[in-house]
Amino acid sequence: MLSVQLSTKPFWDHAVEGFVVLLKNNLEPVSPAASLDYIEQHYYPHLKELLKKHQFEGDKGQSFVLTGQRDGKLVQFLFVGVGALHGSWHHDFETLRRALASGVHSMKRHGITKAVIAQPEATHFKVDAAELTKQLAIVAHMAAYEFTTFKSDKKKKPWDGTLTIASTQTTETALNQGNIIGCAINQARHWADLPANHMTPTVLANEAKKIADKHGFKSTIFGREKALELGMGAFCAVDAGSEQDGKFVAIEYKTATPQAPTIALCGKGVIFDTGGINLKPTSGIGGMKFDMSGAAAVITVMDVIGQLKPNINVIGLTPLVENMPSGKASRPDDIVTCMNGKTVEIQNTDAEGRLILSDTLCYAEKFYQPDIIIDIATLTGAVQHALGHFYTAVMTKDEALAQTLVSLGRKTGDRTWELPLDEDFKGAIRSEVADMHNNGSSAYYGGTIVGGTFLANFVEKARWAHLDIAGTAHDVPAVNYVGKGATGAGIRLLIEFVLSQAQA
Ligand code: BES
Ligand code: MN
Ligand code: ZN
Repeated sequence: MLSVQLSTKPFWDHAVEGFVVLLKNNLEPVSPAASLDYIEQHYYPHLKELLKKHQFEGDKGQSFVLTGQRDGKLVQFLFVGVGALHGSWHHDFETLRRALASGVHSMKRHGITKAVIAQPEATHFKVDAAELTKQLAIVAHMAAYEFTTFKSDKKKKPWDGTLTIASTQTTETALNQGNIIGCAINQARHWADLPANHMTPTVLANEAKKIADKHGFKSTIFGREKALELGMGAFCAVDAGSEQDGKFVAIEYKTATPQAPTIALCGKGVIFDTGGINLKPTSGIGGMKFDMSGAAAVITVMDVIGQLKPNINVIGLTPLVENMPSGKASRPDDIVTCMNGKTVEIQNTDAEGRLILSDTLCYAEKFYQPDIIIDIATLTGAVQHALGHFYTAVMTKDEALAQTLVSLGRKTGDRTWELPLDEDFKGAIRSEVADMHNNGSSAYYGGTIVGGTFLANFVEKARWAHLDIAGTAHDVPAVNYVGKGATGAGIRLLIEFVLSQAQA
């Protein structure tokens, strides 16, 4: 675990084992407070020459470590390059996040438990000092995350460290927020990284209940029987094949402010997606423990909401099931009736996410009449072809919502890109025998948009956006603060979205 703190002391006055020094090309410091002059004066008179001899030029992605002695103790200087920093603000902001992550990784690698970093000038990144502190804290936590639960080698026990952000401004509230959000993201990643023999619908429902109880939120949790009673035929159809009883979880955060709007967050929680009777091939089945990443995101966002208490009502809804083939499983050709009375021909049992979400969207509208619904789901493999691993797909018919979600994606580093949601795609799910089918006709391609088109049938009144995180939720290359395994995709975005809609 990493602990992140703030200090207004001058950078070099910190009694730490490590100084993280961010450098631009030509070895210019990112923060004037952390210039090389001090190290040249006290430790390495020819520091710049030395760094250059070692081909360290402050390029983006470069890092270099030097040791010295201070007050009779070992001290290490962790240099991290950020390159030119002359791109647009959000690109530079992302460069900064990764440089900080590289600093945290260096701490770990070089056995440093206490280090300090100077907070750069915030205006360059189009934010204020508080927002910058918050984001630095979040990313430091993300970079420190490890999934070591099943490593029995005790030498690999989790690393503990403290990173101090030296800032001339007092941004304690922001730091606190950053710590809360960073820890929540890592909690969600941990749940997603846990394999399905350790993370069942019941386990995750219990975690949700614990969070609800901790904050005094009302929670409603039910299984198959109640779901059937409520007419959630699609949810039950996916749940049917598993020995694990599915759980539907609803958590309610109500603010005291009268007339505050209500946001419902719906997260796909497929604890494991075998594909069902349309069993996935070996090449596609590995990693399907991550198919509950949307649900994990929603549950941890509720935990953050409980701590930040914004002036807005937030409902967290997660259908938790395991998609399995068995004698009780749904078959292709089965027709089920959703909670809003619409019928669906199940052409493919592997398109299960949209089935459980359809009833969840109905449930949201029926019981909460939310102003806004955002669903978040590892819904389609196709999104990896459309957008790759770095952008979550946003689909909505609400232009303002699209704009907000894309711009918050830039601001938070939880990047999003809009895909269309035209009526033209409706033909892709036209069924001969029911109101629609769940697979999407291959003639239409655009599988991600087809998924969104299907879900659109289950929202009547609310402003609604669909986030497809199948490309961003796990195993993202190049982004050094997430790495292999679960990434916590969408959490930073959803939290900022909720805060942006809250009344002052
Ligand atoms: N959980 C998968 C989507 C997925 C694929 C997530 C790869 C992460 C990585 C989803 O339930 C699924 O199987 N989707 C099908 C939909 C198709 C049958 C219409 C897909 O993408 O192939
Ligand atoms: Mn599937
Ligand atoms: Zn799935």
